[in-house]
Amino acid sequence: MCEKENKGPAQSFAGKGVCPYRYAFTLLIPLRNLILSPRKLLKMLSLREDSQVLEVGPGPGYFSPHVARATSRGRLVLADIQPEMLDFAKKRMEKKGLKNVSYHLCNGRDFPFDDNSFDTIFLVAVLGEIENKERYAEEFRRLLKPEGLLSVSELPGDPDRMEKEEIIRLMQEYGFTLKGSYGSRKNFTLLFRNGSCK
Ligand SMILES: C[S@@+](CC[C@H](N)C(=O)[O-])C[C@H]1O[C@@H](n2cnc3c(N)ncnc32)[C@H](O)[C@@H]1O
Repeated sequence: MCEKENKGPAQSFAGKGVCPYRYAFTLLIPLRNLILSPRKLLKMLSLREDSQVLEVGPGPGYFSPHVARATSRGRLVLADIQPEMLDFAKKRMEKKGLKNVSYHLCNGRDFPFDDNSFDTIFLVAVLGEIENKERYAEEFRRLLKPEGLLSVSELPGDPDRMEKEEIIRLMQEYGFTLKGSYGSRKNFTLLFRNGSCK
């Protein structure tokens, strides 16, 4: 599952591939707000109180509590490929008393949710780690409601970071329309609409 596991700590921390769960604590450092804060992300996601949201690759859930609070009458599903990351996120969410959250262990291929289940799907520093990006893009298209929003953020310093152009090409190929592009070349969020522009 994690190609970094056979490497030494320094190498695995900086290397490519699925971020090892033993470094999950590094994803909770508040200094991250200088790069992308939960507040800034929330503003771009334009959530409603009753939004149905899927976060793919939440890790320990740096952004998740903020999203759960913003969708207090809706639902947030956290879906990660590492059970340890999901456990970590779950403990944090429960400690904060957040109840509108459920957890899904990904199989790297498909998601057990009905078509048109979500208003919003978001990923932060995840897409580059996903092995089968095409399959996920296909699933995102199926899972999002018509006019639903897909948000992809990439951050500087991430060895798996994808370029904006690569992401736009991939998502357009799977039927998404670019709606917004925020930030710089190395630190950005792309917003896509499910389907064609109106
Ligand atoms: C660099 S961490 C980012 C965590 C979080 N989004 C954040 O910004 O703090 C990447 C996360 O994506 C998860 N991940 C990698 N490949 C995945 C896949 N195919 N499906 C779901 N999650 C995946 C990893 O397990 C890890 O938790």
